[in-house]
Amino acid sequence: MASPPRHLLPLLLLLALLGTSSADPAVYDRPVIGIVTHPGDGAAGRIDNGTSTSYIGASYVKFVEAGGARVIPLIYNEPDERLLEKLSLVNGVLFTGGSVKRVPFPLFAQCLGFELVSMIVSKDNNILESFHASDQASTLQFPNYSSLQGSVFERFHPDLIQKLSTSCLVMQNHKYGISPKRMRENDALSSFFKILTTSPDENGEVYISTVEAQKYPITCTQWHPEKAIFEWGKPMIPHSEDAVQVTQNFANYFISQARKSPNRPPADKVLDNLIYNYSPTFSGKTSKSFELVYLFS
Ligand SMILES: *[C@@H]1O[C@H](CO)[C@@H](O)[C@H](O)[C@H]1NC(C)=O
Ligand SMILES: *[C@@H]1O[C@H](CO)[C@@H](O)[C@H](O)[C@H]1NC(C)=O
Repeated sequence: MASPPRHLLPLLLLLALLGTSSADPAVYDRPVIGIVTHPGDGAAGRIDNGTSTSYIGASYVKFVEAGGARVIPLIYNEPDERLLEKLSLVNGVLFTGGSVKRVPFPLFAQCLGFELVSMIVSKDNNILESFHASDQASTLQFPNYSSLQGSVFERFHPDLIQKLSTSCLVMQNHKYGISPKRMRENDALSSFFKILTTSPDENGEVYISTVEAQKYPITCTQWHPEKAIFEWGKPMIPHSEDAVQVTQNFANYFISQARKSPNRPPADKVLDNLIYNYSPTFSGKTSKSFELVYLFS
């Protein structure tokens, strides 16, 4: 916790498609998503204290499944060759955020979103500002409706967009963020991303809550779309039908992007690497963060 990275960027990065955006016009209906593991057990050591242990909250896996895809875990401390092999089997990557620095950088060097985040973390630690948005349900404000065109929000019913801006339908859990002003003042950031939504923290300070890359299929949220359907440990997590619809729209969008990936991984190799080769552990009694976790050690 002392060094910045651990909670520096609690972004949920949805990095659809490793680099390629257009290419094959044929839609692929068997998409596979890589999810990067996090150091630790997701329960502050109460389940597994091992120093090489890492985990994936099962809610992220179910989020991907809800969109019609399967998951291969990208275990952060595996040998690079294994990770590269697994990357060749996926159509998109879900990067669940948190400890950015410890994810092996070279694997994602092709991915501009991750390069950018890494650049921020490593070279411009001051880009992030403090916000009070730990365990807080919030609204999403839409500063520019034109920017929603072609984005994840395009598939939202206008009523739901309206409700998002007035009701607290999304779950936040972060201490840092970037204000619109800070992003506008940073050429690298503002030319790469467009702002889709902002949110107020507990003190009414406004931070960017959803961005999309201008030229790449990369969507980043500061909030946690997976929690509304799959996590129950904290009382402020919204579970209303509207909140669930937000999550479902988001999952469908993310996987629709992955369906455009030209990668057609061999079925047997996919089976060998699927997360179904592991059993999740019920953690809801030991930790409020996750109902179920996949552990890797
Ligand atoms: C992990 O370490 C802490 C502190 O030493 C201890 O209280 C806890 O029981 C350990 N957890 C497990 C699963 O061994
Ligand atoms: C709103 O978004 C559109 C489309 O991305 C962009 O062309 C326009 O410059 C934006 N307007 C403002 C005020 O940022």
